[in-house]
Order: sequence, then C-alpha cells, then structure tokens
Amino acid sequence: MSFIVAIDGPTSSGKSTIANIIAKELGFVYIQTGAMYRCVTLELLNNKVSLSNSEQIRKILERINIYFVKGQKRQRVIMNGKDVTELIRTKNVTDYCSDVASLSEVRHKLLQEQRRMSSYSNVVVEGRDTGTTVFPNADVKFFLTANPIVRAKRKQQELAQLGENLELINVLKSMYKWDEDAIKRKDGALKRAKDSIFIDSSEMSVEELKGKMMGFIKEKYKEKEEKYI
Ligand code: DC
Repeated sequence: MSFIVAIDGPTSSGKSTIANIIAKELGFVYIQTGAMYRCVTLELLNNKVSLSNSEQIRKILERINIYFVKGQKRQRVIMNGKDVTELIRTKNVTDYCSDVASLSEVRHKLLQEQRRMSSYSNVVVEGRDTGTTVFPNADVKFFLTANPIVRAKRKQQELAQLGENLELINVLKSMYKWDEDAIKRKDGALKRAKDSIFIDSSEMSVEELKGKMMGFIKEKYKEKEEKYI
C-alpha cells in the first residue's frame, strides 16, 4: 500500500521546490504533474499539432512516454528518451500549456499515468488537482500559496535563468491568466481540497516550510504504520 503526499497550489507557489526536497528526504518518488503537462505541450508544439486536431492529439498521447530520473540537484524529466528538463520550461511552452492542460483527453491520459506511477511506490505528487481529482484519498494533502508579487518574482527568476528576461508586470499579467485558466478549467480545476493543510509560504524560508510539512507527514505516516503493520 503506497503512502501518498499531495501538494497543490497555483503557479510559483513553491510546490516543486519543496516537493523535490521532501521526496528526496523521504526516499519517495516525486511526480511532478506540471512537467507532464509541459511534455505533452512541447510534443504538440514540436509536431505543429493544432489543439482542434483530436485525432493527432490522440496519436501523440498514445506514443508519449514520460518518466523522471534522479538529477544532481533536481530530478530530470525524460520524454520519449530525451532529457527535456529545460526545454519544457520556456515561456512558449508555459503560455501554451494552460490551453493544453484544459483538454479532457490530455487530463485523462496523464491522470492514468500518475495513478500508475503511485501504484508501486510511495510518492510525493505535486500539481493543481492531485489532492482533489487524481488522489482524493491521499494520506496527506497540502495547499500551498504565496502572495502574487512573491510568486511573480519567483517565475521571473526562473525565466531569467533560461535567458528570458521579462518585466515583472508582464509576468504578473501572465500569471493572472494561468491562475484564472486553472481555476475555471472544466476537468481538474485548481481547487483547495477540504481536507488539505493550507500554507502561505510568502514569509517562510524553504527550511521553515520543510520543517512544517515534514511534521504533518511524519505524524500521518506513523498513524498509518500503527494501523496497518
Ligand atoms: O506547475 P507548472 O507551472 O509546471 O504547470 C504547467 C501547466 O500545467 C500549467 O498551465 C498548469 C497545468 N497543470 C495542470 O493543469 N494540472 C496539474 N496537475 C499540473 C499542472
């Protein structure tokens, strides 16, 4: 029986950074669901597939193979045998991804993949709908957020590292659109699960955040261990 930690929240709320750290510390597999949506987006862009072409999208989804491997600092994302960790982070992919992630067929396929990945291992899974739609019975659920300026600055830095320098105001505008798209999405909308632990990380260091989250996780893990072992 797997132990599942689900972490959801809006863009640049610090989910991936902390999920990566926690998964490493616990020796759990880290499922970065946003990266999976980004992979599908990159593949559609590379193949110039229009979002109205369901037949082509179906074919791409049939043959796409995404997995994660341990990296020195962060885990690497492999799609169809190629390391796409940096390629999936560009502004082009980020902008298009929101529309791709709204397609039901894409969500359905990736949801199946995410459940399959958790069937053989304890996992930390991170995204928008992991504690609501993908793993409604997750053992611990977190909903992370931070104030919009903090989030926009984080996103601006991430893009700058990829050589894309944007004004903060433009990052903020894009962020509002991504948030709105995620909240209004028909399937897998960004929504706080009722039984999730809400954390605003605006004023917290990564160490503080880690300490707080690990406290909840260890408590739940112990409870489950005592119940089943
Ligand atoms: O977390 P991220 O920024 O890497 O996510 C990339 C895109 O995928 C973003 O548009 C939101 C979408 N996404 C989603 O719809 N559902 C998820 N579980 C994770 C990400």
